[in-house]
Amino acid sequence: MDEDTIICRCSDVTLKEVRELIKEGYVTFDEIKRITRAGMGPCQGKTCGHLIMREIANAAGKDIRDIKFQTSRPPVIGVKLGLIAKEGGRNEE
Ligand code: FES
Repeated sequence: MDEDTIICRCSDVTLKEVRELIKEGYVTFDEIKRITRAGMGPCQGKTCGHLIMREIANAAGKDIRDIKFQTSRPPVIGVKLGLIAKEGGRNEE
């Protein structure tokens, strides 16, 4: 695979970036996620997660099943600004 290949479409992260981070010693999905934002896009790593885990596994000489996937958290629900303003006004009374 060409190193300029984008492996995280949501965050425009290339294979080359991931491989360089692994060489620098970042060998967990969460570390790579925090630096590149790979896995934090709308698909939450469903597309890039397996590819990044495969790179980590290959670099470490491990089976991909031995590589821990990212910590998943539920999505935050948006709050309408009007509701915040209403609650803020209540505290001023
Ligand atoms: S492709 Fe990486 S988060 Fe969607």
